Amino acid sequence: MLRNTRESWGAPAKLLHWTMAALVFAQFALGWLAASWRLSPTKLNLFVWHKSTGILLLALVTVRIVWRLLNPTPALPAGLPRWERAAARASHLLLYLLLVAMPLTGWIINSTANIPFRVFWLFPLPDITAPDKALEELAKKVHLGLFIALALTLTVHIGAALRHHFVKHNDILARMLPGKGRRA
Ligand code: HEM
Ligand code: HEM
Repeated sequence: MLRNTRESWGAPAKLLHWTMAALVFAQFALGWLAASWRLSPTKLNLFVWHKSTGILLLALVTVRIVWRLLNPTPALPAGLPRWERAAARASHLLLYLLLVAMPLTGWIINSTANIPFRVFWLFPLPDITAPDKALEELAKKVHLGLFIALALTLTVHIGAALRHHFVKHNDILARMLPGKGRRA
């Protein structure tokens, strides 16, 4: 099943969800390691990995949003309280916004800092702003703030997924897992 249905997610949506989930966790670690490593060739390599993975995430979230808009969305189980529906919608929208804003602020840091950088050592990333020390400092603060917001939202997101599965016993988690489409 490629396309989503009103009952479950199709294979591309699941693949994008779990690939991006893995990359986002790796990206947290890479960002933290790169920022805290002592100045050395390793630090520079960690930054190339962090920035490259971030640009890859920006490409993936673009594909994901387009795919999401072209497909039906699985309906939430009947009987789910209104506040939970509203919370699910709001938190998913927030996740998409953060997944776009994080790489964009990273890209601004890279441009303002005027550091030559090749995505996965392959091609140069064009600058989206001119070098600017004040904007660089601001973009760094916003990038860190967005990271904290993303980490908090994901804590709620994962907690909610586990609650639906283990406490409410509905199929919300199962239908996002690989190969469970037809049973949902
Ligand atoms: C162990 C980690 C995770 C679990 C158990 C999990 C679980 C889920 C589940 C069950 C859904 C489907 C909700 C529904 O059917 O209505 C979902 C949707 C979603 N997840 Fe996760 N997730 C995890 C990690 C992540 C991460 C790291 C991200 C960020 C990259 C993320 C972003 C999203 C988004 C944006 C949606 C909304 C899908 C949509 O409505 O288009 N998730 N997640
Ligand atoms: C979803 C994508 C991204 C996530 C989750 C992410 C996350 C992080 C985290 C956790 C840190 C360490 C905390 C900090 O010191 O600010 C960080 C730092 C940094 N990130 Fe990202 N990042 C992403 C994308 C990018 C991209 C695309 C670039 C550049 C092209 C980038 C450039 C940087 C830079 C330069 C720093 C160091 C900031 C400083 O020295 O204060 N990031 N990122």
